[in-house]
Amino acid sequence: MDAVKVGVLGLGTVGAGVVNLLARNGDEIARRAGREIRVTRAAVRNLEAPRECATADIDLGTDCHSIVTDPEIDVVLELIGGETEAYDLVMAAIANGKHVVTANKHLIALHGNEIFAAADAAGVVVSFEAAVAGGIPIIKAIRESLAANRIEWVAGIINGTGNFILSQMNFEDVSFDEALADAQARGFAEADPTFDVEGIDAAHKLAIIGSIAFGIPLSFDKIVTDGIRRISADDIEYAAELGYRVKHLGIAQRQPEGVSMRVHPTLVSERALLANVEGEKNAIMVYGDAVGATAYYGAGAGAGPTASSVVADMIDTARMMSVDPAGRVPHLAFQPDQITAEPVLGSE
Ligand code: HSE
Repeated sequence: MDAVKVGVLGLGTVGAGVVNLLARNGDEIARRAGREIRVTRAAVRNLEAPRECATADIDLGTDCHSIVTDPEIDVVLELIGGETEAYDLVMAAIANGKHVVTANKHLIALHGNEIFAAADAAGVVVSFEAAVAGGIPIIKAIRESLAANRIEWVAGIINGTGNFILSQMNFEDVSFDEALADAQARGFAEADPTFDVEGIDAAHKLAIIGSIAFGIPLSFDKIVTDGIRRISADDIEYAAELGYRVKHLGIAQRQPEGVSMRVHPTLVSERALLANVEGEKNAIMVYGDAVGATAYYGAGAGAGPTASSVVADMIDTARMMSVDPAGRVPHLAFQPDQITAEPVLGSE
């Protein structure tokens, strides 16, 4: 069977991670996918920039549009991030009959409803496991493994930068600004770190999780959002004296009138699982009526972990293309009017 031909938009850290992972595990991936997955084209901003992967077999250029309209390309991998250009390119890819894999939480959280509707109409699939919690397979866990459950709540640490800053302030006695600079130097802060410290990045991810868990439209603008900017070393110290840690959580919870979604610093008992997730790691708990509480922990960013989720989506797409075009996993089960902006008072 022919290889699945992938065109990549953006060959930075994650794109290079994908190319390297396909090179390293390509034979096994081909066996699992039922066919080879091959990156044939990539568009980059600067052709001369150094790359963290081999590009000899990739047709490198600077024109994203020529990739999303290329009849030879089966799957477009969108890794340029941001909102506007990514939206235009993803919609163009869909209009040209391409399946799409993206790690772009900002794009999915704000425009996913339109994107999924366009994809359904075009008979293609848009996959986004890497958009939430990097390498943790939380989308598939909720959508597939927990599909028999009525989900009651989801709560998690879904911004590694924020958790890293709070951990450094707690254990290393460093200031907020020092910890943020360290997170930026280590490469997991957003290009605009206000997205991390103001809770916006976590709210993007919570919008996606809430949509999958509760079958509701993506509703970023209904999430009550607060960041960690105003948390001081004193807050952390006083919390510790009372047996709590300050954690920045995203929480989505079923309510009698709908679903509440909120992102904010939370006092968590130091004995609780989420209180003991340190550094840039992510962790998410999901409570289903049949299964009870479940927990998912791992790296929320980085080349390898994010590529792990991206390539898993490519494998799913390849299987779907090979085996059962009509039997693809639905993106979301929309049930409009189930959202409430009402925050739930109290702490975990
Ligand atoms: N800035 C994000 C974080 C990167 O710190 O979690 C991964 O989405």
